[in-house]
Amino acid sequence: MAHFNKAFQFKTRSIIVLLTVFGFQLTAQNWDVPADKKAKNSYIKFDKTTASEGEGIYTKNCASCHGNPSKGNVLKSLKPTPPDLASSGTQKLTDGELFYILNTGRGLMPSFKDVLSESDRWKVIAYVRSFNKSYVQVLSNTDPTKSDKVKVTMVYNHETNTVRVQVVAKEQNTSLPLKDAEVLLFAKRYFGKLPIEKGLKTDESGVANFVYPKDLPGNKLGEVELLVKVNDEVYGEVESSTKLKIGIPTDKPGLTQQRAIWGVLAKAPYWIIALYLLGIATFGVFVLYLVKNLFDFWKKGQQ
Ligand code: HEC
Repeated sequence: MAHFNKAFQFKTRSIIVLLTVFGFQLTAQNWDVPADKKAKNSYIKFDKTTASEGEGIYTKNCASCHGNPSKGNVLKSLKPTPPDLASSGTQKLTDGELFYILNTGRGLMPSFKDVLSESDRWKVIAYVRSFNKSYVQVLSNTDPTKSDKVKVTMVYNHETNTVRVQVVAKEQNTSLPLKDAEVLLFAKRYFGKLPIEKGLKTDESGVANFVYPKDLPGNKLGEVELLVKVNDEVYGEVESSTKLKIGIPTDKPGLTQQRAIWGVLAKAPYWIIALYLLGIATFGVFVLYLVKNLFDFWKKGQQ
């Protein structure tokens, strides 16, 4: 009896474990949106015009999975099921959360960051909000036409080992330091970019100081390409990059300097070029052979 009990307990326990593991996959999870992203607002006013523009974008990009808002005709074969975006669950999310979800995607929900422009992403949200009668929009102050006025400078301080990033806006004759702008700093690598520290906010002089790790490799000359991403409440998002001599000189040939399988034709390995030419030659010979046979055929017919 004791044995039976043990086996029984073990089985129930495994079933419970399995259910929790798979159960999580089948039910929708919360979107863990960072606080600053959650509070982001749209600079596009949600009104009849933008909502109807958003409807067109929605029909092309979203309806295949999410159906028509409030109709519940979602694509039920997907797991988790794409929610009806007019539902109270979705409408409870902030504009910033909806924007974040559109940007990042998750599982079967695609990322639209590189598919739709920022204004189009907001217009889709304008359309989704048009199904919520009690929704009141809070507009952001951001004016995206201002972002090209922003100038970013990066200077390395050898004593403190910091990269000083300064963000100013050039307005007519004055330089206006941007305070409280969000700044992210990255070192560019072959594939992707390496974040340096967490994001910082600029002070009154528009400055954010990043401690730079001393042991990062650079190119042959010790140069590292730094990429800075700035997000200012009014001036919007700006990216800028600079090469600074702050890395450890590393004499590895660049990935694109040698012949390699990922190189363009001029840099492809010889064996790939040979194989390619051989392929073309074989095809050519085959075509000539066909033509010759056809010709022989035709000649026979003449006799
Ligand atoms: C290929 C199918 C597919 C397409 C296309 C698609 N989605 Fe989704 N979407 C999903 C799935 C699946 C989920 C649930 C993902 C999860 O919870 O992990 C989802 C979740 C969401 C959520 C979160 C809703 C909530 O209440 O949690 C929003 C908002 C959303 N999608 C908006 C959109 C918008 C807007 C578009 C078009 C620009 C779009 N989706 C296109 C499949 C899709």
